[in-house]
Amino acid sequence: MSTPLAQLAARELRAAARELPSRLDPGARVARRLDRAVTIEDLRRAARRAIPQVVFDFVDGAANDEATLAANRRDLDALALAPRALVDVSRIDPSTTVLGRKLALPLLGAPTGLTGLVNPLGEPAIARALHAAGSLYVVSAMASHTVEEVRAATDGPLWFQLYVFRDRGFAASLIERAAATGCEALVVTVDVPVAGARERDARNGFGIPPRLTPRSVAQGLLRPRWSADFIRRPRIEVAHAAGRGDGAGDAISLLGYVNSQFDPTLSWATLGWVREHWTGPLVIKGILRPDDAVRAVDQVGADAVIVSNHGGRQLDHAVSGIAALPAIADAVGDRAEVLMDGGIRRGSDILCALALGARAVLAARPFVYGLAAGGAAGAARAAAILGGELERALALSGAPTVADLDSSFVVSRTNMLAP
Ligand SMILES: Cc1cc2nc3c(=O)[nH]c(=O)nc-3n(C[C@H](O)[C@H](O)[C@H](O)COP(=O)(O)O)c2cc1C
Repeated sequence: MSTPLAQLAARELRAAARELPSRLDPGARVARRLDRAVTIEDLRRAARRAIPQVVFDFVDGAANDEATLAANRRDLDALALAPRALVDVSRIDPSTTVLGRKLALPLLGAPTGLTGLVNPLGEPAIARALHAAGSLYVVSAMASHTVEEVRAATDGPLWFQLYVFRDRGFAASLIERAAATGCEALVVTVDVPVAGARERDARNGFGIPPRLTPRSVAQGLLRPRWSADFIRRPRIEVAHAAGRGDGAGDAISLLGYVNSQFDPTLSWATLGWVREHWTGPLVIKGILRPDDAVRAVDQVGADAVIVSNHGGRQLDHAVSGIAALPAIADAVGDRAEVLMDGGIRRGSDILCALALGARAVLAARPFVYGLAAGGAAGAARAAAILGGELERALALSGAPTVADLDSSFVVSRTNMLAP
């Protein structure tokens, strides 16, 4: 005679046996992994399991002691919200307008180079995820897919992010390609006059393409899906530089590439050169001081600035984006738009940045973690998590639209007890 316990055990065993085929199916495994990812931090942990440590460190890591990487989070964590009570929040609308383009979400996909290292679907997959969420994606000059490839994959709005390489002819050709593919704005990144010191990468001997050492081979064997992609359809080069013979495709360190191709003489005069070559909206990325923001707007004619420390990957101990934002937004006023990035991992982070003067924010790692954890569906999951959290945070804050937000919604925890 079977006891209730034995019946329960038999039922569980039968259910487990029914699920066995799908448990062994790699696609279903990825879907389950994504289902379990409730937060961006969950996606980060899943990414760490899915890709070799050396590649994870390239994405996750930052410069030197990673003090700025930590500050990006710590300064957001130090903000407290002061919700408005008794507001009708039955309809939440997080949409906004950035440089004249209506976006369903005030969250853009930040430019990331060599995204194909984590998954060969790379930048086109992230761009499609952002477009499906009603937003836009910024294609990096250092991307592992060309802007033409990203354009072929999606007809949603794109911006192009330029580094003004020493070879101005190359930089000018990239500007032309951005225009020809219909990129709606040119983003010039100004915080890489020389490469930041990514110490995790130095320790790991990170290079393009990744070096095969006994350790990296062992890590690859433990991640057969990533390794199969790496062997079958590698996307591990700076695609825009392919065939230029400038080392972007050789086994050199990324640091060496940046130092040989990037221009340490980059100055305000160089931005004048960019302005002459690009007639559309111009965005300057990597601004952390109000006086620089004002100069970008008044002298160069920038239409927007991105308050950013490059995700902590350049100058360590640089101020966080969220700490620098209020003074910059104040100095720029309504003469240009102010965007911000660095450490955005929660919908409430987006809300804080908007309340402190940003028109929209950008996020980089969340989408790359998603892509690493689950390919295109993982990138889409990152957008869904952040969008869903933002909507709930707006509702709970009593701000049904982003236009309802202002600095009265944010209190600094460090000042909370001040008289
Ligand atoms: C893997 C990786 C690659 C990046 N590549 C670029 C790049 O090519 N150009 C650029 O302007 N910024 C680049 N960034 C910086 C991001 O655009 C962005 O400023 C920063 O990462 C935002 O912080 P978050 O990652 O905390 O969202 C990169 C960041 C990461 C993590």
